[in-house]
Amino acid sequence: LLELTAATGVFRPHEIDTLREVLADYHQENSNLSHVSVSLEHDGVVVGFAYYAPDSMTDRSWYLYWIAVDPGLQGRGAGSTLLRHVENDIRARNGRLLWIETSSLPTYDPTRRFYSRQGYEQAAVLRDYYLEGDDMVVFRKRLDA
Ligand SMILES: CC(C)(COP(=O)(O)OP(=O)(O)OC[C@H]1O[C@@H](n2cnc3c(N)ncnc32)[C@H](O)[C@@H]1OP(=O)(O)O)[C@@H](O)C(=O)NCCC(=O)NCCS
Repeated sequence: LLELTAATGVFRPHEIDTLREVLADYHQENSNLSHVSVSLEHDGVVVGFAYYAPDSMTDRSWYLYWIAVDPGLQGRGAGSTLLRHVENDIRARNGRLLWIETSSLPTYDPTRRFYSRQGYEQAAVLRDYYLEGDDMVVFRKRLDA
């Protein structure tokens, strides 16, 4: 998963380090705290994954922390399949809203287009959040509609 995520080329090295810690924590304890990590396989090979969790300080708001598809297979529906699975799973767990944070940088233009096409609305922009000139763009989708 780390290799696949790094190969997408959009994440900074420290973000890959963070993912390493997130996955280690997941296997150690967070999988018991309603965090979910799912991977999508094609012919026995992992082609993408998603990581999501509820925000315990809210009424049934969930966060999509990570989603990535093997760069050689992007644009062929794998991401949509993963996200649909995530949404259905959260609905089955009585989730109300799914929130996604991403970057405003041009390298994330296709990613933001992906969320819009999947029915997410842009809920907020936090200017200069990540770096000067790199805003946080927050998307959300109602799952109880
Ligand atoms: C964003 C991502 C998960 C989408 O998965 P995907 O399998 O490429 O997406 P799908 O094939 O299901 O959907 C295609 C749609 O997504 C968008 N898209 C995003 N990245 C794309 C790419 N590299 N190639 C083609 N379409 C892409 C397009 O809007 C496309 O719709 P269109 O062809 O009608 O314009 C994947 O491209 C990815 O891993 N990107 C890099 C990592 C990333 O940005 N993760 C999210 C961080 S917040």
